Amino acid sequence: MKRNKSFLQKIGTAAVLFFLVACATTKKESRIVTDFNPNWNFKLGDYPAAIQADFDANDWRALDLPHDWSIEGTFSKEHPTKPQGGALPAGMAWYRKSFTLPESAKNKSIAIEFDGVFCNSEVWINGHYLGKRPFGYISFSYDLTPYLKFGNQKNDIAVKVDNDAQPSSRWYTGSGIYRNVRLVTTDKVHVAQWGTYVTTPEVSKEKAKVVYELKIQNDAAISKNVKVITNILDANNRSVAQSESSETIAPLSRLIKEHTLEVKNPKLWDTKNPNMYKVVTKIFHNKTLVDEYETPLGFRFFAFDAEKGFSLNGVPTKIYGVCLHHDNGALGAVANYHAIKRKLEIMKDMGANAIRTAHNPPSLELLQLCDEMGLIVQDEVFDVWKKKKVSNDYNKYFDEWHKRDLEDFIKRDRNHPSVMMWSIGNEIREQFDSTGVSITRELAQIVKSLDKTRPVTSALTENEPQKNFIYQSGALDLLGFNYKHADYATFPERFKGQKIVASESVSAYATRGHYDMPTDEIRFWPKKYGETFPGNPDLTVTAYDNIASYWGTTHEENWKAAKKYDFIAGTFVWTGFDYIGEPDPYPYPARSSYFGIVDLAGFPKDVYYMYQSEWSDKTVLHLLPHWNWKAGQLIDVWAYYNNADEVELFLNGKSLGSKAKKGDELHIAWKVPFEAGTLKAVSKKAGKVVKETEILTAGEAAKINLQADKSTIKNDGYDLAYVTVTLQDKDGNALPTADNLINFKVSGGAKIVGVDNGYQASLEPFKADYRKLYNGKCLVILKSNKKAENITLEATTAGNISLGTVNIKVE
Ligand code: GAL
Repeated sequence: MKRNKSFLQKIGTAAVLFFLVACATTKKESRIVTDFNPNWNFKLGDYPAAIQADFDANDWRALDLPHDWSIEGTFSKEHPTKPQGGALPAGMAWYRKSFTLPESAKNKSIAIEFDGVFCNSEVWINGHYLGKRPFGYISFSYDLTPYLKFGNQKNDIAVKVDNDAQPSSRWYTGSGIYRNVRLVTTDKVHVAQWGTYVTTPEVSKEKAKVVYELKIQNDAAISKNVKVITNILDANNRSVAQSESSETIAPLSRLIKEHTLEVKNPKLWDTKNPNMYKVVTKIFHNKTLVDEYETPLGFRFFAFDAEKGFSLNGVPTKIYGVCLHHDNGALGAVANYHAIKRKLEIMKDMGANAIRTAHNPPSLELLQLCDEMGLIVQDEVFDVWKKKKVSNDYNKYFDEWHKRDLEDFIKRDRNHPSVMMWSIGNEIREQFDSTGVSITRELAQIVKSLDKTRPVTSALTENEPQKNFIYQSGALDLLGFNYKHADYATFPERFKGQKIVASESVSAYATRGHYDMPTDEIRFWPKKYGETFPGNPDLTVTAYDNIASYWGTTHEENWKAAKKYDFIAGTFVWTGFDYIGEPDPYPYPARSSYFGIVDLAGFPKDVYYMYQSEWSDKTVLHLLPHWNWKAGQLIDVWAYYNNADEVELFLNGKSLGSKAKKGDELHIAWKVPFEAGTLKAVSKKAGKVVKETEILTAGEAAKINLQADKSTIKNDGYDLAYVTVTLQDKDGNALPTADNLINFKVSGGAKIVGVDNGYQASLEPFKADYRKLYNGKCLVILKSNKKAENITLEATTAGNISLGTVNIKVE
């Protein structure tokens, strides 16, 4: 759609001007962080002339960042990304934005911050080249100050993004400026980028010692005397410690200062009570506040032990972890706070207490949310070093960029209390040859030079000590092992005295809501399948947790092994969610992975409840499969449960007997000839009913049901509502196998930004106002369009089925 660019620009300019003027009159005028996402122009292809001020981008598409152009494409196995990369288009594109700045900003320092651009971004301001960042997951900034114009004169920023050389990854990356962009305006004297580093060398319930390093930058050509006041604020913004100092900063230089503070009776951060504090530094020049800067802080101490595993604040704590890729399903790579929050909430509700950021630096929002929600993070930087996995991956840039990228990664993330492990690489090829020794040492040394408070780890696959050169380097503090659950018993002997975490595990396959019987056998790929794949011709895979890769195993078998050995600090399951790309071994049209505990749309597969029964405090009684089968068909009924010593099953009121888990079993099972009606399970402890769960046979489709995850959203252009769509019979029972095509219409303050149903081989687009149900469900993602109007989403389908509606308020 062609939009009136100058109008948009005026709005953008007015907003920036208003913000600058408004802020200039408030107390916080010192540091102005402007959301720089709105009002960009975008075009696929290569436009070197776009760096010029007089370039006419009128026919370019107007859009707001963050933006991923790949997710807007149509699937094809011909795309050079291949199904492994999501079978979506990549290529090259340019972004451009014009803006003005007030005269009052003339004596300021102004920087632009990009949280992530995939990939090979190059940036120009007013025709000046600012630089290049090949690594698509790294955050970076440029100082714009020397090149800016003020008053009525316009500034033009141009960004070239080049994801053309494919394949660039083993999974879907997305393409574009897919994370947030900010403009940061400060006084000439200001806290430098990532200019604080806070550590807590001593923490107890009684007191904590805080060491706070502050880097103050003076961009002025004269020296500056400043007063620095730092406060530690608790969750109620009450100061619990303060330091004050006077400093002189030489012209055009940086001063690094360290302050030690003490906090009495700190509230500790843990996974149940993630108590957060913040360090707030105010810099005054001639009594005027010139900068104010916040750093997150959490008080916790943790340890890995070669025999006892992990402990947090002295409490033995098994790591209940999941690996997550960065994509947000139908939104693609777009980093949206609300999408990431939903993903983490679904994991947390399952009982997960840890996230591994497979296999690259995550969005800032993910770390902020992990801090706030109490999720431990294994922060991982690389999937490859010098030796490639696919031809155009980071191996091409490793030599020139690894030092800078690794340093920036640590500097950005080291203040987050949730981060407790630095992983310098996943299944790195150099573990198999002697070059691994020196690279591991170098990378570990870079990490240590910036943070000594967390162990350096790497996700390894070679468990013969003498053949593993990353291990041989002696530079790892914590060994990560991917898979190898069958060998755990031998680890203390093989890796004497070493601390060990299962950095990756499981890799089992499943499609949500699809059930194949019988379920008596666990089947591994490819061992028992030759070269074909373990599933059905329609590329579905049973959800009974009995199909696994040969290098991994089922969820249950892995968890049994991980929980058996205390020296295994915990496990990071591959993966929490299905992700786009890596459908292997399933052929196209499969284009997303089958490994998730939760499908791509965010709907749990059944094994989610196995974890919930083991990892969470919730009382669980989950029955599978659904109850719509052919009369007489023999059905494998499984139940995951906890907090009870037996479960009795009833079919249409008739008891089918009680069962209990034996030994290390994680579920119980019955074989039940199908009869339409009600299947009910009752869990009991000492004869008393703990929980009842029933599933009913659904009849004919009568109506569409829409369930929004929120009743209110903000009209800020970012807030999201996730609406789950099902078909119900006249009594309100959901139809578990429905695949009807549903059409959507939205009015008011939102637009549809994604649709999905979790089926790994669906070729329907993610950007559409329709979607077929898959095994009874689909999802619509609504995003605020900034209009202050209440939202109505309407869903219709063919046949005699009543429409569904949901209303969402806008604040
Ligand atoms: C692992 C790898 C993951 C993913 C997984 C699939 O070896 O680290 O990125 O590819 O296999 O099973």
